[in-house]
Amino acid sequence: MKYQSLIEQMTLEEKASLMSGENFWNTKAIERLNIPSIMLTDGPHGLRKQGGKADHLGLNASLPATCYPTAATLANSWDRELLNEIGQFLAAECVSENVSVILGPGLNLKRNPLCGRNFEYFSEDPYLTGELASQQVKGIQSQGVAASPKHFAVNSQEHMRMTIDEVVDERSLRELYLEGFRRVVKQSKPKTIMSSYNKINGIYANEHPHLMNDILYGEWQFDGVMVTDWGGNNDRVAGLRAGNQLEMPSTNGITDQEIVVAIQTGELSEAILDQAVNQLLKLVFETSSVTEKPVTIDYQKHHEKAVDAAKRSMVLLKNQKEILPLRASEKIALIGDFANKPRYQGAGSSLINPTQVPNFVEVLKESPLSIQGYAQGYQRMGQRVKTKLVNEAIELAKKVDKVLLFVGLDESREAEGIDRHDLKLPFNQLHLIEEITKVNPNVVIVLAGGGVLELPFEERVQGILHSYLAGQGVAEALKEILLGTYNPSGKLSETYPLAYESVPSATYYPGKEATSEHREGLFVGYRYFDTANVPVKYSFGYGLSYTKFAYSDITREDLSVSFTVSNSGKVAGEEVAQLYIEKQESKIIRAKRELKGFEKIYLEPGQSKVVTIQLTEHDFSYYSLVNQDWAIEAGNYNIQIGSSIEDIRLTTMIEQVGKNESEEYQLKKYPTYAQANVQRIPDAEFYQLLGYQPPALLWDPKKPLGMNDTIAQARNKNWLGKSSYNIVIFVKNVLKIVKQPLWSNNVYFVLNMPFRQMERFTGGKISKKNVQRYLRWVNGKN
Ligand code: BGC
Repeated sequence: MKYQSLIEQMTLEEKASLMSGENFWNTKAIERLNIPSIMLTDGPHGLRKQGGKADHLGLNASLPATCYPTAATLANSWDRELLNEIGQFLAAECVSENVSVILGPGLNLKRNPLCGRNFEYFSEDPYLTGELASQQVKGIQSQGVAASPKHFAVNSQEHMRMTIDEVVDERSLRELYLEGFRRVVKQSKPKTIMSSYNKINGIYANEHPHLMNDILYGEWQFDGVMVTDWGGNNDRVAGLRAGNQLEMPSTNGITDQEIVVAIQTGELSEAILDQAVNQLLKLVFETSSVTEKPVTIDYQKHHEKAVDAAKRSMVLLKNQKEILPLRASEKIALIGDFANKPRYQGAGSSLINPTQVPNFVEVLKESPLSIQGYAQGYQRMGQRVKTKLVNEAIELAKKVDKVLLFVGLDESREAEGIDRHDLKLPFNQLHLIEEITKVNPNVVIVLAGGGVLELPFEERVQGILHSYLAGQGVAEALKEILLGTYNPSGKLSETYPLAYESVPSATYYPGKEATSEHREGLFVGYRYFDTANVPVKYSFGYGLSYTKFAYSDITREDLSVSFTVSNSGKVAGEEVAQLYIEKQESKIIRAKRELKGFEKIYLEPGQSKVVTIQLTEHDFSYYSLVNQDWAIEAGNYNIQIGSSIEDIRLTTMIEQVGKNESEEYQLKKYPTYAQANVQRIPDAEFYQLLGYQPPALLWDPKKPLGMNDTIAQARNKNWLGKSSYNIVIFVKNVLKIVKQPLWSNNVYFVLNMPFRQMERFTGGKISKKNVQRYLRWVNGKN
């Protein structure tokens, strides 16, 4: 061990003390041994360093920092270089604020579009996720700051996130939920990883020996520090044993003492603690000095990078009759509350206090466009139609050539701690679109929101541009796209379904109480729509440009595939060429096609470039549970190159010899999966895939509540439990009525907090004894 001699000088108590935070954001220092404290803070798309009161829910203000586009937005850029640059910009702000570890990127797989935190995650595809997140980590760590990819793993829903048991088969776990993390660990060696709150197949992620000891440290050779999500520790000793070194935030020494006792009683070997201390010291010493170099940030330059990232990430979904780009001579109306107050980031621990957020009205009025006026049109955070606002908007729309109509999800609809209820826009916005399109046929919708939406108005409008949550540079980025000074190049990193009902996990999501069953298995996102032939609104990888690209001359040498992309249009632009692999006549259950390569290329009009994508053996493999290893099915594989998964332009073929092949996953054993009919998987088929019969989906109301249960469960008990629950709901609703969505969502979060956290979160102010007493009362025993 590198720090053996230092560790030998420490008392048992000192060693244990390093295993949890000093406060909300810092590790502990040991002055007599010159061990400094380092700061870890959010993340992921800007720096959220709190100067004053600390919290992990985005409630108390943080110091001003640049708010870059969120991961869901940046993912649409499919631009590795950009992600690397953003990492560097983020890290520079960390250094200037003495932050050693930035808590991100977030790379949970988008299992279902309702997940309240999807805006913080990259994609429904693990390859795209892993490639982009790796670059962000590389960029961050190139500046000496440590990244903390999160939340490891299967944090697929926000509802009950601190207790939910995510029931998922090993193959889907490996191929989907862990694959992004695997790529990041292998490619960019993050210095830390954050575990998730939830359980996976019955065991909390943070103390999961298989997930951490076997896979993360064993197979992937992770050599960094595992940090809990804030308050995500359950059994401290089990966590340490599984490889978790750092519990955050502080528990005022409560859990350090548990470690000391476990060693004194022989429950835990001191060698495990020493190893954990060694890992932590490595992180501390490697990152503490980075903050010593003084840096001054040019925030204007950082703002310009935020604008640049935003324009590369917006997705042009529809552009009928070339309604975009706009011409300076055309008269334009700006309609919609979001034009005046952009929606550019999500809520929760990622909430950034931006250095500036120019709005669309001011930016576009100063542009060469002929802006005729602005009308609010609807009230944010509500559904009710305000006739006066609608009429004003109609009058303005009548007077112009084209309308830019700004709509989207408001702040209360996408946030950490809650999931969305549906994919709908509020009724008042839909109504406004309906009314405006009656009086003006030339409407361009500018959508804001960190995920997909149902678009019932699609046929009525000429243009749709999804800005996602594009950060503080959103307005200037949009201006460039509208004027055509930047040619849109974003492509969807997730599928736009026709309606929520067609999403593969729609019948299972979210897990409401005890467990969340991933019955759809491998068939997440396009893996389902494509295999089951379910029509979608916009496919994975889709996005329009102001120019056209032609593909030609595919060649192959071993696992290296080359082809030519040419710009056949009139303006310069960027294309994202995508490579999908399809097994011919597969005998096992698998998605029809999988993304295994992509390249973003800039081309002047008439210019051509040869693109080469190097495949690896891993790209052809699936995870075999029987062999506990990756396997390859022998046979021919189609290699498809295209502009989206539905727009394939070139094909070639590669033959593979088999490896580790076995009888498992054979189509005949899984008739429902074989047809990708995954919305209705029978119990027997799911249990067979899973390898065990999972526990009940719902809580057992008769079972007495324990420390790992929640106030949400107490409502099923006596009057006291019911009243505690009702009080929280009442406060939550009042806060919503008085338009405090952040506070309201976070009060809701209390419902999901396990009782064990009460003492730790309040630093002992609510003692374990009192919590136990409350539980006895609720359980009807005094
Ligand atoms: C979130 C993490 C975040 C942490 C610290 C938690 O609630 O899940 O993503 O990094 O708080 O703010």
